[in-house]
Amino acid sequence: MENSLTLRLPDDWHLHLRDGAMLRGVLPETARHFGRAIVMPNLVPPVVTAAQAAAYRTRILAALPEGAAFEPLMTLYLTEETDPADIRAAAASGLVAAVKLYPAGATTNSQSGVRDFDRVRAVLETMAEIGLPLCTHGEVTTPEVDIFDREAVFIDTVLDPIRRATPGLRVVMEHITTAEGVAYARSGGTDLGATITTHHLIINRNHILVGGIRPHYYCLPVAKREHHRLALRRAATSGEGCFFLGTDSAPHVDALKEHACGCAGCFTATNTLSCLAHVFEEEGALDRLEAFASLNGPAFYRLPPNKGRIRLTRHDTPHSYPKKLFTEAGPVTVFDPGFPLHWVVEG
Ligand code: DOR
Ligand code: ZN
Repeated sequence: MENSLTLRLPDDWHLHLRDGAMLRGVLPETARHFGRAIVMPNLVPPVVTAAQAAAYRTRILAALPEGAAFEPLMTLYLTEETDPADIRAAAASGLVAAVKLYPAGATTNSQSGVRDFDRVRAVLETMAEIGLPLCTHGEVTTPEVDIFDREAVFIDTVLDPIRRATPGLRVVMEHITTAEGVAYARSGGTDLGATITTHHLIINRNHILVGGIRPHYYCLPVAKREHHRLALRRAATSGEGCFFLGTDSAPHVDALKEHACGCAGCFTATNTLSCLAHVFEEEGALDRLEAFASLNGPAFYRLPPNKGRIRLTRHDTPHSYPKKLFTEAGPVTVFDPGFPLHWVVEG
């Protein structure tokens, strides 16, 4: 059995870093194992202008541990008021790597998102022209649509029409959770990619609901049935270029997770690579982990892979990660994969 694995330094193509005390607490967890991350803009208030993105980037760099070489790749939060000229300038200056589309009301801090997709047409056309990717939170918010169907309905009623109306628009389907998402991503050609989280490769909806509600497994899009998880596993471990890692690591303090109306998000930054190595080993695909975590994402974003390497080794004794990360904002529970973790990043 393989017991050591060297990979190009991975990137995280979908990450929530928050701000202030939480940022200071969680950033070192990602900076330790990743070269770059696409940083989500759903702060309060959201990062909607290039000036706000520049200021947020400065705060992230200031919160980095001494000597860390981590590079935040900034995104802008798309609203119905977004100015195409601001997007064009932000992309030309190299400040932003993508624009994030949240359907209004779909998830944490998405109230400023898009209600009427016709009102962002000019922005999307500008993005298609300049090749700036659109990262999509792919769920409809219509109350009549069951929460477990929201991704599949989004693909048919929002994403596919947008892509047909905007040829050349480069789209990342963020955190896909369904077999339908996998199939659509595969069918889309080189302008379409999809991120897959660590936790959606590990949990299905039973993990959230059987034997009591487990709020730390609640995230959005919510985990689906087992056959969807298996489709995600096959996609992630396939090596196909359209699938790459976006952890969607989304910290909330325990008081807000363990709550009558608990926040959505799994915090996986601390143990993501150990979890992924476990999953890829189970699937007999350790040789494809590098494609998923370190190569396919840069290729989609038209960036070189990181120069550095990390080494994972398989320990006979399971590694015990801390159950909680204690931040100045409060304790944050680290994702529990429900199995012992033998793969550990060295150094
Ligand atoms: O689970 C989630 N948490 N999904 C999202 O889309 C947002 C994220 C957050 O910001 O907490
Ligand atoms: Zn997210």
